[in-house]
Amino acid sequence: MDVLEAINKRYSCRDYLDRPVEPDKVKKVLDAARLAPSARNFQDWRFVIVTDKALRAKMSEAANNQKFVGQAPVIIVGCSNNNHVMRCGQAVGPIDVSIALEHIALQATAEGLATCWIGSFYPEKVRTILGIPDNIMVIEMMTLGYPADQKKPPKREPLQAIVSYEKWSFKA
Ligand SMILES: Cc1cc2nc3c(=O)[nH]c(=O)nc-3n(C[C@H](O)[C@H](O)[C@H](O)COP(=O)(O)O)c2cc1C
Repeated sequence: MDVLEAINKRYSCRDYLDRPVEPDKVKKVLDAARLAPSARNFQDWRFVIVTDKALRAKMSEAANNQKFVGQAPVIIVGCSNNNHVMRCGQAVGPIDVSIALEHIALQATAEGLATCWIGSFYPEKVRTILGIPDNIMVIEMMTLGYPADQKKPPKREPLQAIVSYEKWSFKA
């Protein structure tokens, strides 16, 4: 599957089959994260992989009771200990972890799996459930599994609404 095909096929899956993901496939998607770019090549991302059913149920609760979070056979918790702010004023940790997580989403798609970003969660609850130390930021989570639903046509703005050439020429 080429990259654009994976980009087109990826969607937010909120219904998963009750089927474990083969450890080899999990490893492959995690390797896609490992190979992601990061500011100054810090690679300060850390990923906690949750497959235990009882833990997943707790994680679902911590994710604002989003039921599919517990239904997914794998939850990937993206963390960072990097507090650097780049010259541009943006924080390294969340950006680097996000790039790596999207690598995961695309590789998962190429493996016939599906994912969903999870930003609606209480980090302190996740910290307690997984024993994540106080100095580590819990940045975003991602569910992973075999889909039980299907992608709907994506709602996206046309290119001309989001791109301007040579100078800022947006109306708003
Ligand atoms: C940073 C981030 C956080 C998100 N958090 C959630 C979430 O907590 N629950 C959820 O159901 N979807 C979540 N989503 C999924 C978005 O709703 C979804 O990507 C968007 O509606 C576009 O749909 P698509 O991913 O199917 O193309 C999140 C997406 C991103 C990028």
